[in-house]
Amino acid sequence: MRTFNPQVIVITGASGSIGAALAERYAGLGITLILQGRDESRLQRVQKNCESLGAEVVLMPADLAIPESARVWMRLILEETRPDLVIFNAGMNTNVSTHHGISGEDWQASDELIHLNLVAVMAMADLVARFMQQRQYGQMVFISSLAGYFGLPVTPSYCASKAGLKAYAEALRGGLAHKGVRVNVVMPGYVSSPMCDAMLGPKTFEMSPERAAAIIHNGLARNKARISFPFPLNFGTWWLAVLPASVSTWLVRLMGYGVK
Ligand SMILES: NC(=O)c1ccc[n+]([C@@H]2O[C@H](COP(=O)([O-])OP(=O)(O)OC[C@H]3O[C@@H](n4cnc5c(N)ncnc54)[C@H](OP(=O)(O)O)[C@@H]3O)[C@@H](O)[C@H]2O)c1
Repeated sequence: MRTFNPQVIVITGASGSIGAALAERYAGLGITLILQGRDESRLQRVQKNCESLGAEVVLMPADLAIPESARVWMRLILEETRPDLVIFNAGMNTNVSTHHGISGEDWQASDELIHLNLVAVMAMADLVARFMQQRQYGQMVFISSLAGYFGLPVTPSYCASKAGLKAYAEALRGGLAHKGVRVNVVMPGYVSSPMCDAMLGPKTFEMSPERAAAIIHNGLARNKARISFPFPLNFGTWWLAVLPASVSTWLVRLMGYGVK
Protein backbone atom coordinates (compact mmCIF):
# COMPACT_ATOMS: atom_id res chain seq x y z
CA MET A 1 0.00 0.00 0.00
CA ARG A 2 1.20 3.57 -0.81
CA THR A 3 2.20 5.81 2.10
CA PHE A 4 -0.98 7.50 3.24
CA ASN A 5 -0.82 11.27 3.40
CA PRO A 6 -4.32 12.80 3.10
CA GLN A 7 -4.42 16.24 1.54
CA VAL A 8 -8.06 16.66 0.54
CA ILE A 9 -10.29 16.02 3.54
CA VAL A 10 -14.09 16.04 3.82
CA ILE A 11 -15.59 16.48 7.31
CA THR A 12 -19.35 16.39 7.85
CA GLY A 13 -20.73 18.11 10.94
CA ALA A 14 -17.78 20.56 10.88
CA SER A 15 -19.94 23.31 12.40
CA GLY A 16 -20.27 21.17 15.55
CA SER A 17 -17.86 20.59 18.42
CA ILE A 18 -15.99 17.45 17.35
CA GLY A 19 -16.13 18.28 13.63
CA ALA A 20 -14.70 21.79 14.14
CA ALA A 21 -11.93 20.44 16.38
CA LEU A 22 -11.07 17.79 13.78
CA ALA A 23 -10.99 20.41 11.00
CA GLU A 24 -8.59 22.56 13.03
CA ARG A 25 -6.50 19.50 13.88
CA TYR A 26 -6.03 18.61 10.21
CA ALA A 27 -5.65 22.23 9.01
CA GLY A 28 -2.22 23.17 7.66
CA LEU A 29 -0.30 24.18 4.55
CA GLY A 30 -1.10 21.98 1.56
CA ILE A 31 -4.35 20.74 3.10
CA THR A 32 -7.75 21.34 1.51
CA LEU A 33 -10.71 20.96 3.84
CA ILE A 34 -14.24 20.47 2.53
CA LEU A 35 -16.48 21.29 5.46
CA GLN A 36 -20.19 20.56 5.88
CA GLY A 37 -22.73 21.78 8.40
CA ARG A 38 -26.05 23.58 8.24
CA ASP A 39 -25.20 26.65 10.31
CA GLU A 40 -23.21 28.82 7.88
CA SER A 41 -22.06 31.37 10.45
CA ARG A 42 -20.52 28.64 12.60
CA LEU A 43 -18.96 27.06 9.52
CA GLN A 44 -17.43 30.43 8.56
CA ARG A 45 -15.87 30.69 12.01
CA VAL A 46 -14.26 27.27 11.57
CA GLN A 47 -13.15 28.28 8.08
CA LYS A 48 -11.40 31.35 9.44
CA ASN A 49 -9.55 29.35 12.08
CA CYS A 50 -8.47 26.69 9.58
CA GLU A 51 -7.33 29.27 7.02
CA SER A 52 -5.25 30.99 9.68
CA LEU A 53 -3.47 27.62 10.10
CA GLY A 54 -2.67 27.57 6.37
CA ALA A 55 -5.43 25.31 4.99
CA GLU A 56 -7.55 25.99 1.95
CA VAL A 57 -11.21 25.67 2.96
CA VAL A 58 -14.30 24.99 0.86
CA LEU A 59 -17.66 25.23 2.64
CA MET A 60 -20.36 22.88 1.42
CA PRO A 61 -23.37 23.49 3.70
CA ALA A 62 -26.15 20.92 3.36
CA ASP A 63 -28.86 19.10 5.25
CA LEU A 64 -27.89 15.43 5.18
CA ALA A 65 -30.98 13.87 6.76
CA ILE A 66 -32.45 12.76 3.42
CA PRO A 67 -30.31 9.92 2.04
CA GLU A 68 -30.97 10.62 -1.67
CA SER A 69 -30.05 14.33 -1.27
CA ALA A 70 -26.98 13.36 0.77
CA ARG A 71 -25.93 11.07 -2.10
CA VAL A 72 -26.29 13.88 -4.65
CA TRP A 73 -24.23 16.13 -2.37
CA MET A 74 -21.48 13.51 -1.98
CA ARG A 75 -21.42 12.73 -5.72
CA LEU A 76 -20.70 16.41 -6.40
CA ILE A 77 -17.88 16.43 -3.84
CA LEU A 78 -16.28 13.30 -5.27
CA GLU A 79 -16.40 14.68 -8.81
CA GLU A 80 -15.12 18.15 -7.92
CA THR A 81 -12.62 17.57 -5.13
CA ARG A 82 -11.46 13.91 -5.25
CA PRO A 83 -11.01 13.52 -1.45
CA ASP A 84 -8.38 11.32 0.19
CA LEU A 85 -10.09 11.22 3.58
CA VAL A 86 -13.81 11.42 4.37
CA ILE A 87 -14.95 11.71 8.00
CA PHE A 88 -18.66 10.99 8.54
CA ASN A 89 -19.24 12.92 11.73
CA ALA A 90 -22.60 14.78 11.47
CA GLY A 91 -25.19 13.36 13.83
CA MET A 92 -28.00 14.04 16.25
CA ASN A 93 -29.47 12.52 19.41
CA THR A 94 -32.93 11.95 20.88
CA ASN A 95 -33.96 10.99 24.40
CA VAL A 96 -36.81 9.06 25.97
CA SER A 97 -39.29 11.14 27.94
CA THR A 98 -41.94 9.88 30.35
CA HIS A 99 -45.42 11.33 30.88
CA HIS A 100 -47.90 9.79 33.32
CA GLY A 101 -45.80 6.61 33.48
CA ILE A 102 -45.70 6.09 29.68
CA SER A 103 -42.23 6.47 28.18
CA GLY A 104 -40.99 6.75 24.63
CA GLU A 105 -39.05 8.80 22.09
CA ASP A 106 -40.57 11.30 19.71
CA TRP A 107 -41.02 9.19 16.55
CA GLN A 108 -40.42 12.08 14.14
CA ALA A 109 -37.06 12.68 15.83
CA SER A 110 -36.17 8.96 15.78
CA ASP A 111 -37.04 8.77 12.09
CA GLU A 112 -34.85 11.79 11.29
CA LEU A 113 -32.05 10.46 13.50
CA ILE A 114 -31.84 7.04 11.87
CA HIS A 115 -31.76 8.67 8.43
CA LEU A 116 -29.09 11.22 9.37
CA ASN A 117 -26.88 9.05 11.62
CA LEU A 118 -27.07 5.82 9.63
CA VAL A 119 -28.98 5.58 6.33
CA ALA A 120 -27.62 8.79 4.76
CA VAL A 121 -24.10 7.88 5.90
CA MET A 122 -24.41 4.49 4.19
CA ALA A 123 -25.84 6.15 1.08
CA MET A 124 -22.79 8.44 0.88
CA ALA A 125 -20.26 5.82 1.98
CA ASP A 126 -21.38 3.52 -0.82
CA LEU A 127 -20.24 6.15 -3.35
CA VAL A 128 -17.03 6.97 -1.47
CA ALA A 129 -16.05 3.29 -1.21
CA ARG A 130 -16.42 2.82 -4.99
CA PHE A 131 -14.46 6.02 -5.71
CA MET A 132 -11.61 5.09 -3.35
CA GLN A 133 -11.43 1.50 -4.60
CA GLN A 134 -10.89 2.79 -8.13
CA ARG A 135 -7.99 4.93 -6.92
CA GLN A 136 -6.81 2.18 -4.55
CA TYR A 137 -6.24 4.98 -2.08
CA GLY A 138 -8.25 6.66 0.63
CA GLN A 139 -9.62 6.57 4.14
CA MET A 140 -13.23 6.50 5.35
CA VAL A 141 -14.02 7.29 8.96
CA PHE A 142 -17.28 6.69 10.79
CA ILE A 143 -17.95 8.54 14.05
CA SER A 144 -19.96 6.06 16.10
CA SER A 145 -20.08 6.18 19.92
CA LEU A 146 -19.42 4.06 23.00
CA ALA A 147 -23.24 4.00 23.11
CA GLY A 148 -22.95 1.61 20.15
CA TYR A 149 -21.70 -1.21 22.40
CA PHE A 150 -24.92 -1.72 24.38
CA GLY A 151 -28.32 -0.04 24.15
CA LEU A 152 -28.98 2.62 26.82
CA PRO A 153 -32.67 2.82 27.85
CA VAL A 154 -32.54 6.65 27.84
CA THR A 155 -31.71 6.84 24.12
CA PRO A 156 -32.62 3.72 22.10
CA SER A 157 -32.63 5.22 18.58
CA TYR A 158 -29.25 6.87 19.05
CA CYS A 159 -27.70 3.62 20.31
CA ALA A 160 -29.26 1.72 17.39
CA SER A 161 -27.80 4.17 14.87
CA LYS A 162 -24.32 4.03 16.42
CA ALA A 163 -24.33 0.22 16.74
CA GLY A 164 -25.37 0.05 13.08
CA LEU A 165 -22.59 2.41 12.08
CA LYS A 166 -20.02 0.39 14.00
CA ALA A 167 -21.08 -2.87 12.33
CA TYR A 168 -21.18 -1.20 8.90
CA ALA A 169 -17.69 0.29 9.30
CA GLU A 170 -16.20 -3.00 10.53
CA ALA A 171 -17.73 -4.85 7.59
CA LEU A 172 -16.43 -2.27 5.10
CA ARG A 173 -12.95 -2.41 6.62
CA GLY A 174 -12.84 -6.17 6.13
CA GLY A 175 -14.00 -5.82 2.54
CA LEU A 176 -11.74 -2.95 1.52
CA ALA A 177 -8.53 -3.75 3.41
CA HIS A 178 -6.93 -5.39 0.36
CA LYS A 179 -8.10 -2.68 -2.02
CA GLY A 180 -5.98 0.15 -0.67
CA VAL A 181 -8.83 1.75 1.29
CA ARG A 182 -8.62 2.35 5.04
CA VAL A 183 -11.83 2.23 7.09
CA ASN A 184 -12.00 3.19 10.77
CA VAL A 185 -14.73 3.40 13.36
CA VAL A 186 -14.45 5.97 16.14
CA MET A 187 -16.28 5.40 19.42
CA PRO A 188 -15.98 8.44 21.69
CA GLY A 189 -17.29 8.67 25.23
CA TYR A 190 -18.56 12.06 26.42
CA VAL A 191 -17.14 15.03 24.55
CA SER A 192 -18.28 18.53 25.56
CA SER A 193 -20.83 19.74 22.99
CA PRO A 194 -24.47 20.81 22.73
CA MET A 195 -25.31 17.19 21.93
CA CYS A 196 -23.44 15.95 24.99
CA ASP A 197 -25.24 18.55 27.16
CA ALA A 198 -28.60 17.28 25.92
CA MET A 199 -27.83 13.61 26.68
CA LEU A 200 -29.49 12.07 29.74
CA GLY A 201 -27.53 10.27 32.47
CA PRO A 202 -24.14 10.89 34.10
CA LYS A 203 -21.33 12.22 31.86
CA THR A 204 -18.34 10.42 33.33
CA PHE A 205 -14.87 11.25 31.98
CA GLU A 206 -16.21 14.09 29.78
CA MET A 207 -13.39 15.58 27.68
CA SER A 208 -12.83 18.59 25.44
CA PRO A 209 -13.39 18.36 21.65
CA GLU A 210 -9.73 19.31 21.12
CA ARG A 211 -8.55 16.34 23.20
CA ALA A 212 -10.97 14.04 21.36
CA ALA A 213 -9.75 15.35 17.99
CA ALA A 214 -6.12 14.68 18.97
CA ILE A 215 -6.94 11.06 19.92
CA ILE A 216 -8.91 10.53 16.70
CA HIS A 217 -6.19 12.11 14.54
CA ASN A 218 -3.53 9.90 16.11
CA GLY A 219 -5.64 6.74 15.75
CA LEU A 220 -6.40 7.49 12.10
CA ALA A 221 -2.76 8.13 11.28
CA ARG A 222 -2.02 4.65 12.67
CA ASN A 223 -5.04 3.20 10.82
CA LYS A 224 -6.48 1.72 14.02
CA ALA A 225 -9.55 -0.37 13.23
CA ARG A 226 -11.44 0.93 16.25
CA ILE A 227 -10.62 4.17 18.05
CA SER A 228 -12.55 4.01 21.31
CA PHE A 229 -11.91 6.31 24.26
CA PRO A 230 -11.51 7.38 27.02
CA PHE A 231 -10.13 4.58 29.16
CA PRO A 232 -11.69 3.16 31.37
CA LEU A 233 -15.14 4.08 29.96
CA ASN A 234 -14.34 2.27 26.70
CA PHE A 235 -13.34 -0.86 28.63
CA GLY A 236 -16.47 -0.71 30.79
CA THR A 237 -18.85 -0.26 27.85
CA TRP A 238 -17.05 -3.01 25.89
CA TRP A 239 -17.82 -5.34 28.79
CA LEU A 240 -21.52 -4.43 28.54
CA ALA A 241 -21.51 -6.05 25.09
CA VAL A 242 -19.71 -9.15 26.36
CA LEU A 243 -21.59 -9.87 29.60
CA PRO A 244 -24.98 -11.64 29.62
CA ALA A 245 -27.54 -9.04 28.51
CA SER A 246 -29.52 -9.36 31.74
CA VAL A 247 -26.42 -8.40 33.77
CA SER A 248 -25.63 -5.48 31.43
CA THR A 249 -29.22 -4.21 31.63
CA TRP A 250 -28.97 -4.24 35.42
CA LEU A 251 -25.57 -2.47 35.36
CA VAL A 252 -26.82 0.22 32.97
CA ARG A 253 -29.77 0.99 35.27
CA LEU A 254 -27.43 1.01 38.29
CA MET A 255 -25.19 3.56 36.49
CA GLY A 256 -28.12 5.92 35.98
CA TYR A 257 -29.09 5.32 32.35
CA GLY A 258 -32.44 3.66 33.13
CA VAL A 259 -35.88 5.08 32.38
CA LYS A 260 -38.02 6.14 35.36
N1 LIG B 1 -20.40 14.79 22.06
C1 LIG B 1 -20.38 13.55 22.49
O1 LIG B 1 -20.37 13.28 23.71
C2 LIG B 1 -20.34 12.42 21.49
C3 LIG B 1 -20.03 11.12 21.94
C4 LIG B 1 -19.97 10.08 21.06
C5 LIG B 1 -20.20 10.30 19.72
N2 LIG B 1 -20.52 11.55 19.28
C6 LIG B 1 -20.79 11.74 17.84
O2 LIG B 1 -19.90 12.72 17.32
C7 LIG B 1 -20.53 13.38 16.23
C8 LIG B 1 -20.41 14.90 16.41
O3 LIG B 1 -21.09 15.25 17.60
P1 LIG B 1 -20.84 16.61 18.40
O4 LIG B 1 -20.75 16.25 19.82
O5 LIG B 1 -19.75 17.40 17.78
O6 LIG B 1 -22.26 17.31 18.20
P2 LIG B 1 -22.67 18.78 17.77
O7 LIG B 1 -21.71 19.78 18.31
O8 LIG B 1 -24.11 18.87 18.11
O9 LIG B 1 -22.50 18.72 16.17
C9 LIG B 1 -23.38 18.00 15.36
C10 LIG B 1 -23.04 18.30 13.92
O10 LIG B 1 -23.94 17.56 13.06
C11 LIG B 1 -24.55 18.48 12.15
N3 LIG B 1 -25.92 18.10 11.83
C12 LIG B 1 -26.94 17.88 12.70
N4 LIG B 1 -28.07 17.60 12.02
C13 LIG B 1 -27.74 17.66 10.70
C14 LIG B 1 -28.47 17.49 9.50
N5 LIG B 1 -29.78 17.19 9.49
N6 LIG B 1 -27.82 17.61 8.33
C15 LIG B 1 -26.52 17.93 8.31
N7 LIG B 1 -25.76 18.11 9.39
C16 LIG B 1 -26.38 17.98 10.59
C17 LIG B 1 -24.55 19.81 12.88
O11 LIG B 1 -24.69 20.85 11.94
P3 LIG B 1 -25.43 22.27 12.31
O12 LIG B 1 -25.22 22.47 13.77
O13 LIG B 1 -24.70 23.24 11.45
O14 LIG B 1 -26.84 22.07 11.97
C18 LIG B 1 -23.20 19.78 13.57
O15 LIG B 1 -22.20 20.17 12.67
C19 LIG B 1 -21.97 12.88 16.17
O16 LIG B 1 -22.09 11.88 15.18
C20 LIG B 1 -22.17 12.27 17.55
O17 LIG B 1 -23.15 11.27 17.55
C21 LIG B 1 -20.59 12.62 20.13
